[in-house]
Amino acid sequence: MIPAVKLTPASVAFSGTNLRSKSALVPSVSSLKPSKFTACSLRPLYLAPLGGPRTAELKPRRQLLDFQCAASAADDKESKAEVVPASSEAAQKLKISIYFATWWALNVIFNIYNKKVLNAFPYPWLTSTLSLACGSLMMLFSWATRLVEAPKTDLDFWKVLFPVAVAHTIGHVAATVSMSKVAVSFTHIIKSAEPAFSVLVSRFILGESFPMPVYLSLLPIIGGCGLAAATELNFNMVGFMGAMISNLAFVFRNIFSKRGMKGKSVSGMNYYACLSIMSLVILTPFAIAMEGPQMWAAGWQKALTEVGPNVLWWIGAQSVFYHLYNQVSYMSLDEISPLTFSIGNTMKRISVIVSSIIIFHTPVRPVNALGAAIAIFGTFLYSQAKQ
Ligand code: 3PG
Repeated sequence: MIPAVKLTPASVAFSGTNLRSKSALVPSVSSLKPSKFTACSLRPLYLAPLGGPRTAELKPRRQLLDFQCAASAADDKESKAEVVPASSEAAQKLKISIYFATWWALNVIFNIYNKKVLNAFPYPWLTSTLSLACGSLMMLFSWATRLVEAPKTDLDFWKVLFPVAVAHTIGHVAATVSMSKVAVSFTHIIKSAEPAFSVLVSRFILGESFPMPVYLSLLPIIGGCGLAAATELNFNMVGFMGAMISNLAFVFRNIFSKRGMKGKSVSGMNYYACLSIMSLVILTPFAIAMEGPQMWAAGWQKALTEVGPNVLWWIGAQSVFYHLYNQVSYMSLDEISPLTFSIGNTMKRISVIVSSIIIFHTPVRPVNALGAAIAIFGTFLYSQAKQ
Protein backbone atom coordinates (compact mmCIF):
# COMPACT_ATOMS: atom_id res chain seq x y z
CA MET A 1 0.00 0.00 0.00
CA ILE A 2 1.34 3.41 -0.92
CA PRO A 3 1.74 5.52 2.16
CA ALA A 4 0.87 9.17 2.29
CA VAL A 5 2.21 11.74 4.63
CA LYS A 6 -0.43 13.28 6.79
CA LEU A 7 0.42 16.64 8.29
CA THR A 8 -0.17 17.45 11.85
CA PRO A 9 -0.93 20.86 13.17
CA ALA A 10 2.41 21.68 14.54
CA SER A 11 4.00 21.58 11.16
CA VAL A 12 2.74 24.93 9.99
CA ALA A 13 3.80 28.32 11.15
CA PHE A 14 1.55 31.33 11.03
CA SER A 15 1.91 35.00 10.46
CA GLY A 16 -0.52 37.76 9.74
CA THR A 17 -1.89 37.39 6.27
CA ASN A 18 -5.33 36.57 5.23
CA LEU A 19 -6.17 33.04 4.45
CA ARG A 20 -9.62 33.67 3.27
CA SER A 21 -8.89 34.76 -0.17
CA LYS A 22 -6.69 32.61 -2.22
CA SER A 23 -7.73 30.21 -4.82
CA ALA A 24 -7.22 26.75 -6.14
CA LEU A 25 -8.94 23.51 -6.57
CA VAL A 26 -9.98 21.22 -3.83
CA PRO A 27 -6.73 20.34 -2.24
CA SER A 28 -4.78 17.18 -1.98
CA VAL A 29 -4.09 16.47 1.61
CA SER A 30 -0.86 14.77 0.80
CA SER A 31 0.30 17.76 -1.16
CA LEU A 32 0.32 20.03 1.82
CA LYS A 33 3.85 20.88 2.67
CA PRO A 34 4.28 22.30 6.12
CA SER A 35 7.45 24.11 5.37
CA LYS A 36 5.71 26.13 2.72
CA PHE A 37 3.16 27.63 5.00
CA THR A 38 4.86 30.52 6.59
CA ALA A 39 2.04 32.97 6.82
CA CYS A 40 -1.67 32.89 7.15
CA SER A 41 -4.67 34.42 8.75
CA LEU A 42 -7.96 33.32 7.42
CA ARG A 43 -11.22 33.82 9.09
CA PRO A 44 -11.01 30.52 10.89
CA LEU A 45 -8.01 31.72 12.76
CA TYR A 46 -10.34 33.22 15.21
CA LEU A 47 -12.31 30.08 15.46
CA ALA A 48 -10.29 27.64 17.29
CA PRO A 49 -8.17 27.79 20.31
CA LEU A 50 -4.73 26.47 20.47
CA GLY A 51 -2.12 25.51 22.77
CA GLY A 52 -4.27 25.01 25.78
CA PRO A 53 -5.50 21.84 27.37
CA ARG A 54 -7.95 19.93 25.24
CA THR A 55 -11.44 19.69 26.59
CA ALA A 56 -14.13 17.10 26.19
CA GLU A 57 -15.86 19.18 23.56
CA LEU A 58 -12.94 18.83 21.23
CA LYS A 59 -12.89 15.90 18.92
CA PRO A 60 -9.56 14.51 17.78
CA ARG A 61 -9.91 16.07 14.34
CA ARG A 62 -10.49 19.37 16.01
CA GLN A 63 -6.90 19.43 16.98
CA LEU A 64 -5.95 20.03 13.40
CA LEU A 65 -8.19 23.05 13.27
CA ASP A 66 -6.76 24.24 16.50
CA PHE A 67 -3.39 23.95 15.08
CA GLN A 68 -4.37 25.68 11.92
CA CYS A 69 -5.98 28.51 13.74
CA ALA A 70 -3.45 29.08 16.43
CA ALA A 71 -0.79 31.35 15.23
CA SER A 72 1.84 31.16 17.85
CA ALA A 73 0.65 27.92 19.29
CA ALA A 74 2.35 26.20 16.44
CA ASP A 75 5.59 27.05 18.10
CA ASP A 76 4.62 25.08 21.14
CA LYS A 77 4.04 21.84 19.35
CA GLU A 78 6.41 19.40 17.91
CA SER A 79 6.27 18.76 14.18
CA LYS A 80 5.59 15.21 13.23
CA ALA A 81 4.17 13.16 10.41
CA GLU A 82 2.25 9.96 10.49
CA VAL A 83 1.77 7.43 7.75
CA VAL A 84 -1.76 6.85 6.51
CA PRO A 85 -2.90 4.36 3.89
CA ALA A 86 -3.72 5.60 0.37
CA SER A 87 -7.33 4.49 0.85
CA SER A 88 -7.60 6.79 3.86
CA GLU A 89 -6.18 9.59 1.80
CA ALA A 90 -8.80 9.02 -0.88
CA ALA A 91 -11.54 9.03 1.72
CA GLN A 92 -10.12 12.23 3.16
CA LYS A 93 -10.09 13.87 -0.26
CA LEU A 94 -13.70 12.85 -0.78
CA LYS A 95 -14.65 14.23 2.60
CA ILE A 96 -12.93 17.56 1.91
CA SER A 97 -14.53 17.74 -1.51
CA ILE A 98 -17.94 17.29 0.08
CA TYR A 99 -17.16 19.95 2.67
CA PHE A 100 -16.03 22.40 0.02
CA ALA A 101 -19.05 21.75 -2.17
CA THR A 102 -21.38 22.16 0.81
CA TRP A 103 -19.62 25.32 1.97
CA TRP A 104 -19.80 26.93 -1.47
CA ALA A 105 -23.41 25.86 -2.01
CA LEU A 106 -24.51 27.20 1.38
CA ASN A 107 -22.69 30.45 0.73
CA VAL A 108 -24.27 30.86 -2.70
CA ILE A 109 -27.70 30.25 -1.17
CA PHE A 110 -26.98 32.74 1.61
CA ASN A 111 -25.92 35.39 -0.87
CA ILE A 112 -28.98 34.85 -3.06
CA TYR A 113 -31.45 35.07 -0.18
CA ASN A 114 -29.53 37.93 1.40
CA LYS A 115 -29.85 39.95 -1.80
CA LYS A 116 -33.50 39.03 -2.24
CA VAL A 117 -34.17 40.27 1.29
CA LEU A 118 -32.18 43.46 0.76
CA ASN A 119 -34.01 44.17 -2.50
CA ALA A 120 -37.38 43.84 -0.78
CA PHE A 121 -36.45 45.08 2.67
CA PRO A 122 -33.38 47.35 2.38
CA TYR A 123 -32.32 47.47 6.00
CA PRO A 124 -28.85 45.90 6.13
CA TRP A 125 -28.26 46.75 9.79
CA LEU A 126 -31.32 44.78 10.82
CA THR A 127 -30.68 41.84 8.50
CA SER A 128 -27.07 41.65 9.74
CA THR A 129 -28.37 41.60 13.29
CA LEU A 130 -30.87 38.88 12.48
CA SER A 131 -28.14 36.71 10.93
CA LEU A 132 -26.15 36.88 14.14
CA ALA A 133 -29.25 36.40 16.28
CA CYS A 134 -30.23 33.29 14.35
CA GLY A 135 -26.78 31.75 14.74
CA SER A 136 -26.68 32.67 18.41
CA LEU A 137 -30.09 31.11 19.05
CA MET A 138 -29.15 27.96 17.16
CA MET A 139 -26.06 27.52 19.28
CA LEU A 140 -27.79 28.41 22.55
CA PHE A 141 -30.39 25.79 21.71
CA SER A 142 -27.65 23.28 20.89
CA TRP A 143 -25.98 23.96 24.22
CA ALA A 144 -29.23 23.82 26.18
CA THR A 145 -30.20 20.48 24.63
CA ARG A 146 -26.61 19.20 24.89
CA LEU A 147 -26.41 18.64 21.16
CA VAL A 148 -23.15 20.51 21.55
CA GLU A 149 -21.28 20.76 24.81
CA ALA A 150 -21.23 24.35 26.01
CA PRO A 151 -17.79 25.93 26.22
CA LYS A 152 -16.20 26.68 29.55
CA THR A 153 -15.26 30.34 29.37
CA ASP A 154 -14.11 32.97 31.81
CA LEU A 155 -14.08 36.75 31.85
CA ASP A 156 -10.65 36.81 30.27
CA PHE A 157 -11.96 34.81 27.32
CA TRP A 158 -14.69 37.36 26.63
CA LYS A 159 -12.28 40.27 27.07
CA VAL A 160 -9.94 38.83 24.50
CA LEU A 161 -12.87 38.03 22.23
CA PHE A 162 -14.13 41.61 22.29
CA PRO A 163 -11.83 43.17 19.65
CA VAL A 164 -12.39 40.12 17.46
CA ALA A 165 -16.14 40.59 17.80
CA VAL A 166 -15.89 44.30 17.03
CA ALA A 167 -13.98 43.57 13.83
CA HIS A 168 -16.34 40.72 12.94
CA THR A 169 -19.34 42.98 13.47
CA ILE A 170 -17.91 45.77 11.33
CA GLY A 171 -16.89 43.35 8.57
CA HIS A 172 -20.28 41.66 8.54
CA VAL A 173 -22.45 44.77 8.57
CA ALA A 174 -20.19 46.55 6.07
CA ALA A 175 -20.50 43.65 3.63
CA THR A 176 -24.26 43.63 4.06
CA VAL A 177 -24.52 47.39 3.57
CA SER A 178 -22.44 46.94 0.44
CA MET A 179 -24.75 44.28 -0.91
CA SER A 180 -27.74 46.48 -0.20
CA LYS A 181 -26.29 49.12 -2.55
CA VAL A 182 -24.61 47.18 -5.33
CA ALA A 183 -24.81 43.83 -7.09
CA VAL A 184 -23.74 40.78 -5.09
CA SER A 185 -21.15 40.08 -7.77
CA PHE A 186 -19.57 43.51 -7.37
CA THR A 187 -19.31 43.18 -3.60
CA HIS A 188 -17.54 39.83 -3.98
CA ILE A 189 -15.21 41.14 -6.67
CA ILE A 190 -14.09 43.85 -4.28
CA LYS A 191 -13.91 41.31 -1.44
CA SER A 192 -11.52 39.25 -3.52
CA ALA A 193 -9.02 42.02 -2.75
CA GLU A 194 -8.84 40.87 0.86
CA PRO A 195 -5.29 39.48 0.47
CA ALA A 196 -4.08 42.92 -0.57
CA PHE A 197 -5.48 44.40 2.63
CA SER A 198 -3.90 41.63 4.62
CA VAL A 199 -0.46 42.21 3.16
CA LEU A 200 -0.67 46.00 3.45
CA VAL A 201 -1.82 45.90 7.06
CA SER A 202 0.81 43.32 7.93
CA ARG A 203 3.50 45.36 6.20
CA PHE A 204 2.70 48.90 7.30
CA ILE A 205 1.08 48.33 10.69
CA LEU A 206 2.74 45.16 11.94
CA GLY A 207 6.05 45.68 10.16
CA GLU A 208 5.98 42.24 8.60
CA SER A 209 7.77 41.79 5.31
CA PHE A 210 7.04 39.43 2.43
CA PRO A 211 8.90 38.10 -0.59
CA MET A 212 8.73 40.29 -3.69
CA PRO A 213 6.38 37.87 -5.58
CA VAL A 214 3.77 38.45 -2.86
CA TYR A 215 3.88 42.21 -3.41
CA LEU A 216 3.81 41.75 -7.18
CA SER A 217 0.74 39.53 -6.90
CA LEU A 218 -1.10 42.49 -5.37
CA LEU A 219 -0.81 44.44 -8.61
CA PRO A 220 -3.34 42.33 -10.54
CA ILE A 221 -5.57 42.11 -7.46
CA ILE A 222 -5.67 45.88 -7.00
CA GLY A 223 -5.64 46.60 -10.73
CA GLY A 224 -8.38 44.08 -11.45
CA CYS A 225 -10.60 45.37 -8.67
CA GLY A 226 -9.95 48.92 -9.81
CA LEU A 227 -10.89 48.08 -13.37
CA ALA A 228 -14.02 46.25 -12.22
CA ALA A 229 -15.01 49.20 -10.03
CA ALA A 230 -14.32 51.79 -12.72
CA THR A 231 -16.42 49.91 -15.26
CA GLU A 232 -19.22 48.77 -12.94
CA LEU A 233 -22.50 49.77 -14.53
CA ASN A 234 -24.26 50.29 -11.21
CA PHE A 235 -21.37 51.66 -9.21
CA ASN A 236 -22.27 53.07 -5.82
CA MET A 237 -19.70 54.61 -3.49
CA VAL A 238 -21.40 53.31 -0.33
CA GLY A 239 -21.47 49.82 -1.79
CA PHE A 240 -17.83 50.05 -2.83
CA MET A 241 -16.68 51.45 0.51
CA GLY A 242 -18.72 48.86 2.41
CA ALA A 243 -16.84 46.03 0.69
CA MET A 244 -13.52 47.81 1.28
CA ILE A 245 -14.29 48.35 4.97
CA SER A 246 -15.34 44.70 5.24
CA ASN A 247 -11.97 43.65 3.83
CA LEU A 248 -10.10 45.83 6.30
CA ALA A 249 -12.20 44.74 9.27
CA PHE A 250 -11.76 41.05 8.48
CA VAL A 251 -7.99 41.48 8.30
CA PHE A 252 -7.95 43.03 11.76
CA ARG A 253 -10.32 40.37 13.02
CA ASN A 254 -7.86 37.71 11.94
CA ILE A 255 -4.96 39.49 13.57
CA PHE A 256 -6.84 39.92 16.85
CA SER A 257 -7.94 36.32 16.69
CA LYS A 258 -4.49 34.98 16.35
CA ARG A 259 -3.34 37.02 19.29
CA GLY A 260 -6.34 36.15 21.39
CA MET A 261 -6.74 32.46 20.87
CA LYS A 262 -3.44 31.29 22.19
CA GLY A 263 -3.80 29.06 25.18
CA LYS A 264 -7.59 28.80 25.02
CA SER A 265 -9.49 25.56 24.85
CA VAL A 266 -12.78 26.35 23.11
CA SER A 267 -13.58 24.46 19.95
CA GLY A 268 -13.93 26.26 16.64
CA MET A 269 -17.69 25.75 16.57
CA ASN A 270 -18.13 27.17 20.05
CA TYR A 271 -15.67 29.96 19.44
CA TYR A 272 -17.73 31.08 16.45
CA ALA A 273 -20.89 30.78 18.54
CA CYS A 274 -19.42 33.04 21.22
CA LEU A 275 -18.29 35.41 18.51
CA SER A 276 -21.82 35.54 17.09
CA ILE A 277 -23.32 36.22 20.51
CA MET A 278 -20.88 39.01 21.33
CA SER A 279 -21.25 40.53 17.87
CA LEU A 280 -25.02 40.44 18.30
CA VAL A 281 -24.73 42.36 21.56
CA ILE A 282 -22.43 44.91 19.94
CA LEU A 283 -24.47 45.34 16.77
CA THR A 284 -28.00 45.54 18.19
CA PRO A 285 -27.81 49.09 19.63
CA PHE A 286 -26.12 50.38 16.49
CA ALA A 287 -28.78 48.77 14.31
CA ILE A 288 -31.48 50.48 16.36
CA ALA A 289 -29.63 53.79 16.12
CA MET A 290 -28.94 53.53 12.39
CA GLU A 291 -32.34 52.26 11.31
CA GLY A 292 -34.68 51.66 14.23
CA PRO A 293 -38.13 50.16 14.77
CA GLN A 294 -40.02 52.92 12.97
CA MET A 295 -38.08 52.47 9.73
CA TRP A 296 -38.30 48.70 10.05
CA ALA A 297 -42.06 48.79 10.57
CA ALA A 298 -42.60 51.03 7.55
CA GLY A 299 -40.22 48.96 5.45
CA TRP A 300 -41.87 45.76 6.55
CA GLN A 301 -45.30 46.98 5.47
CA LYS A 302 -43.87 47.98 2.10
CA ALA A 303 -42.16 44.62 1.68
CA LEU A 304 -45.34 42.74 2.58
CA THR A 305 -47.32 44.80 0.09
CA GLU A 306 -44.84 44.42 -2.75
CA VAL A 307 -43.51 40.91 -2.15
CA GLY A 308 -45.90 39.27 0.26
CA PRO A 309 -45.16 36.98 3.19
CA ASN A 310 -42.39 35.23 1.26
CA VAL A 311 -40.03 37.90 2.45
CA LEU A 312 -40.30 36.41 5.92
CA TRP A 313 -39.05 33.06 4.63
CA TRP A 314 -36.25 34.80 2.78
CA ILE A 315 -35.12 36.50 5.99
CA GLY A 316 -35.20 33.17 7.79
CA ALA A 317 -33.26 31.50 4.99
CA GLN A 318 -30.54 34.14 4.78
CA SER A 319 -30.12 34.03 8.57
CA VAL A 320 -29.91 30.25 8.81
CA PHE A 321 -27.65 29.89 5.79
CA TYR A 322 -25.34 32.60 7.06
CA HIS A 323 -24.69 30.55 10.16
CA LEU A 324 -24.54 27.23 8.33
CA TYR A 325 -22.03 28.30 5.72
CA ASN A 326 -19.78 29.69 8.40
CA GLN A 327 -20.05 26.46 10.36
CA VAL A 328 -19.20 24.32 7.36
CA SER A 329 -16.31 26.56 6.42
CA TYR A 330 -14.89 25.82 9.85
CA MET A 331 -15.48 22.12 9.37
CA SER A 332 -13.46 22.45 6.18
CA LEU A 333 -10.70 24.19 7.99
CA ASP A 334 -10.73 21.38 10.47
CA GLU A 335 -9.45 19.13 7.72
CA ILE A 336 -7.14 21.32 5.66
CA SER A 337 -4.43 23.92 5.93
CA PRO A 338 -5.29 27.61 6.21
CA LEU A 339 -3.69 28.19 2.85
CA THR A 340 -5.88 25.60 1.18
CA PHE A 341 -8.84 27.07 2.99
CA SER A 342 -8.16 30.50 1.61
CA ILE A 343 -7.82 29.06 -1.85
CA GLY A 344 -11.22 27.45 -1.41
CA ASN A 345 -12.63 30.74 -0.21
CA THR A 346 -11.66 32.48 -3.43
CA MET A 347 -13.13 29.64 -5.44
CA LYS A 348 -16.25 30.25 -3.41
CA ARG A 349 -16.34 33.87 -4.53
CA ILE A 350 -16.21 32.78 -8.16
CA SER A 351 -19.25 30.56 -7.51
CA VAL A 352 -21.08 33.44 -5.86
CA ILE A 353 -20.18 35.95 -8.58
CA VAL A 354 -21.23 33.68 -11.43
CA SER A 355 -24.41 32.39 -9.80
CA SER A 356 -25.58 35.83 -8.68
CA ILE A 357 -25.00 37.28 -12.15
CA ILE A 358 -27.15 34.50 -13.61
CA ILE A 359 -29.91 34.62 -10.99
CA PHE A 360 -30.22 38.40 -10.75
CA HIS A 361 -29.49 39.02 -14.45
CA THR A 362 -26.75 41.42 -13.43
CA PRO A 363 -25.56 43.42 -16.45
CA VAL A 364 -21.85 42.84 -16.97
CA ARG A 365 -19.71 44.51 -19.59
CA PRO A 366 -16.78 42.53 -20.99
CA VAL A 367 -14.25 44.96 -19.55
CA ASN A 368 -15.95 44.64 -16.18
CA ALA A 369 -15.70 40.86 -16.33
CA LEU A 370 -12.07 41.22 -17.36
CA GLY A 371 -11.36 43.26 -14.23
CA ALA A 372 -12.95 40.61 -12.06
CA ALA A 373 -11.01 37.85 -13.80
CA ILE A 374 -7.72 39.72 -13.34
CA ALA A 375 -8.46 40.27 -9.65
CA ILE A 376 -9.32 36.61 -9.09
CA PHE A 377 -6.25 35.53 -11.03
CA GLY A 378 -4.17 37.88 -8.89
CA THR A 379 -5.54 36.18 -5.81
CA PHE A 380 -4.46 32.85 -7.25
CA LEU A 381 -0.96 34.25 -7.89
CA TYR A 382 -0.93 35.54 -4.34
CA SER A 383 -1.72 32.09 -2.99
CA GLN A 384 1.12 30.66 -5.04
CA ALA A 385 3.53 33.39 -3.94
CA LYS A 386 2.68 32.80 -0.30
CA GLN A 387 3.64 29.14 -0.50
C1 3PG B 1 -20.91 38.83 5.74
O1 3PG B 1 -22.06 39.20 5.70
O2 3PG B 1 -20.30 38.62 6.79
C2 3PG B 1 -20.21 38.66 4.45
O3 3PG B 1 -21.11 38.42 3.42
C3 3PG B 1 -19.19 37.60 4.58
O4 3PG B 1 -18.79 37.20 3.33
P1 3PG B 1 -17.59 36.19 3.20
O5 3PG B 1 -17.79 35.11 4.21
O6 3PG B 1 -17.70 35.68 1.81
O7 3PG B 1 -16.36 36.99 3.44
